[in-house]
Amino acid sequence: MKKIVAFGASNSKKSINKKFANYAATLIPNSTIELLDLNDYVMPIYSEDIQEEYGIPELAHSFKKTLRESDGIVISFAEYNGSYTAAFKNIFDWISVIESDVWCSKPMLLLATSPGPRGAVDVLESAHKRISHGNKNTVLSFSLPSFGKNYDENYGILDKNLLKELHKVINEFVASI
Ligand SMILES: Cc1cc2nc3c(=O)[nH]c(=O)nc-3n(C[C@H](O)[C@H](O)[C@H](O)COP(=O)(O)O)c2cc1C
Repeated sequence: MKKIVAFGASNSKKSINKKFANYAATLIPNSTIELLDLNDYVMPIYSEDIQEEYGIPELAHSFKKTLRESDGIVISFAEYNGSYTAAFKNIFDWISVIESDVWCSKPMLLLATSPGPRGAVDVLESAHKRISHGNKNTVLSFSLPSFGKNYDENYGILDKNLLKELHKVINEFVASI
């Protein structure tokens, strides 16, 4: 069994991206899912001064340990003003000062969804560019537009073409884990 770490890059308790990350992870065969919640990793806003004075928070090390012990990582990005949520960016910054291989060179499936038709593509593009730059392993991406229209709690993705596209990306991810 492969161990997949999944999370929505959002701190909303009702996060559609947390739901979507979990759903996509359930489509990965022969795997167990560890679904993280960013609310369990609340840390001071990253600052070099805080790092110098107090060191790197234990929660950042614990988050990183979870990544290191996984076989693959699934993240679904919420888009705030065209970019990462502050909750995700803060964790990203804290784990980035632990070591330069931020995502432990794990295979990664980057997703994004939003209520609107653009499916949070701006944050997804920027995440894919940044994360694939520093990761020697496979980094894939998929955006689901109009979450409320295209996703159902019981059936998952309703649109056949979008589901086919997601399965294709998941097959590539599975081949890399
Ligand atoms: C401060 C703020 C900024 C947002 N900016 C964007 C945006 O730039 N693009 C977008 O598609 N949606 C934007 N949204 C809407 C989010 O896509 C929507 O709240 C979504 O549910 C967030 O994902 P989550 O439920 O996983 O937290 C914004 C929402 C908030 C609260």
